[in-house]
Amino acid sequence: MRFCCQGPSLAVHAPAKLNLFLEVLGRRPDGYHELETVMVSIGLYDTLLFTEDASHRTRLRCRLATPHSLSPQLADSLAGDDNLVLRAAQLLREQTGCEDGVQIELTKRIPLQAGLGGGSSDAAATLVGLNRFWNLQLTCGQLHAMAARLGSDVNFFLDSPRGALCSGRGEQIAPLPVMQPLHFVVACPPVGLSTAEVFRHWQQSEVQPRSSAALVAAISSGRGPREGGLLFNALQSPACELSDEVARTLTDLRSTGADDVAMSGSGSSCFALCRTARQARTLAGRLGGRADRCVIPVSTGA
Ligand code: C5P
Repeated sequence: MRFCCQGPSLAVHAPAKLNLFLEVLGRRPDGYHELETVMVSIGLYDTLLFTEDASHRTRLRCRLATPHSLSPQLADSLAGDDNLVLRAAQLLREQTGCEDGVQIELTKRIPLQAGLGGGSSDAAATLVGLNRFWNLQLTCGQLHAMAARLGSDVNFFLDSPRGALCSGRGEQIAPLPVMQPLHFVVACPPVGLSTAEVFRHWQQSEVQPRSSAALVAAISSGRGPREGGLLFNALQSPACELSDEVARTLTDLRSTGADDVAMSGSGSSCFALCRTARQARTLAGRLGGRADRCVIPVSTGA
């Protein structure tokens, strides 16, 4: 997360994430699933601009900077009351009694329903941004408690780690050193997927859960996950059952000759690990032929 003062306004750049590893360990009594997941933040950002509102209301205006991979219905619902940015602002007001108003201008570059954490990152940026803008002086612990109420991925974005090993339903964060930048090409199919629906289609398998230990060791040693076969996502099969587009995108990424390919989060975006930023740009060029698919070369270190 990056902050920048623009006159009387505060701009916050909220990064996307990729799940390099995601194992589902089982269903929990509360309806969520227990996870082991490795997330890294990447250099693809939404931007939130906070400006004082004299009417004491919280207003949200959205601007879409990525027309691809957004259905008109999704675009319409973006500024509705269930938007995580408005819910985060509302939660802050409830918890602190703050009655100040704010206008929030959200510029969306992170594709929606893509498993890239855009909504969660925007919510984290709202918590941290308004804590500063309204001078609420909430502690890190208080912000984390609110983040967990808003969604399972929000906690990851609060402290802006480059990478983290996340457990519980995803909200328990152990930061990981990402010693060398990692490079990827991300491909988002024209359809998004609902997280709840993908989890509903997941089935417990008989085989032992996979461990992220080899990937974690590769990332934190600075070698990077170069040997291939370390990326994994247990939600990939249910997502492929729900959408042919996900399977097609994975096949197209593999056909570029990339060493390792996986889906991010609950999809629908997929990515290939590249050796260099240049290779990521080259593969993006090769994959960019379809007008309805959004292809983005990115690196860690957001
Ligand atoms: O936490 P979040 O609101 O992002 O989750 C959206 C939905 O995804 C949940 O309502 C739940 O159905 C599913 N989910 C899950 N297990 C998780 C995270 C999310 O079942 N660890």
